Amino acid sequence: MEITTIGMFDSGVGGLSVLRQLERLNQLTTDRMVRFIYLGDTARCPYGNRDKDEIVLFVKQIVDWLLKLGADSIVMACNTSAAQAGPAAKMRSPVPVYDLISAVSSYVSQRPGKVAVLATAATVSSKAFSKAITRLNPSAEVLEIACPELVPLVESGQLTSTTTRNVLWSYLKDFEAKKVKSVVLGCTHYPFLREAIADLLPATIDLIDPAEHLLSSLRQTLTGSSSYESSTDKLQSTRFFTTGSAATFAQTATICLARQLPAVEHIALAELAEPDTHSAPATTFQAVSPASS
Ligand code: DGL
Repeated sequence: MEITTIGMFDSGVGGLSVLRQLERLNQLTTDRMVRFIYLGDTARCPYGNRDKDEIVLFVKQIVDWLLKLGADSIVMACNTSAAQAGPAAKMRSPVPVYDLISAVSSYVSQRPGKVAVLATAATVSSKAFSKAITRLNPSAEVLEIACPELVPLVESGQLTSTTTRNVLWSYLKDFEAKKVKSVVLGCTHYPFLREAIADLLPATIDLIDPAEHLLSSLRQTLTGSSSYESSTDKLQSTRFFTTGSAATFAQTATICLARQLPAVEHIALAELAEPDTHSAPATTFQAVSPASS
């Protein structure tokens, strides 16, 4: 059985909404085992209010680090990174780099009616979503809406609080009047707010999680076909890292995923910041001790 190691990253727990989709690859492919390395750069979260140069620097550091850990594909589970530093990551990496904006654009470009993309300020300022969608369908109507208050709420585990609902309402309140037909959850933190968002919008408005589209394109890339074959005898193997507190990351991840993480390892920013001066981390997966709480 072939083994693929996918390195993934986000500014924090948001990319776990992508991981939960991609973990299904192990049920959807029979001839391959997919392992994941996930890094949440929580010490520098949020990325969405940062400028391009900073984001490019962080992304290059993380790509180098994931490669040293043996990633043979990289998933940018952070749309802010993809919007601001996608080309830089792809140029730097000798292995394929995947992002969600490319994965979902074709689907969105074919949707009837107005599409609203909820995203971070940095993603909105790049216009990455509207450019990718209108390249495929010049008449598509795309509104991009910056939602800077949402990432800190998700990072603090507030998925359904009154504050979260009030903040969401401030972004969504005129969607019906504006005749929005579809909403793209354009920041990987937002699928964890899906329930709260759905509660505030009429059921006729579709919510689109780009990670579902990345799953189907990766499934085809990895299997060479779109056939559905189920295999249950593969052990899930995901290694979690954070630049912030391992205990806090594990706690928020448990709320977001509604399951316990096996373990979370802390990685010092200095190790990311000086990729050429530290010894390479082990490339094999090994038992790690559970995060202390
Ligand atoms: N979850 C990330 C994204 O998809 C980054 C959010 C942030 O750090 O601002 O854009």
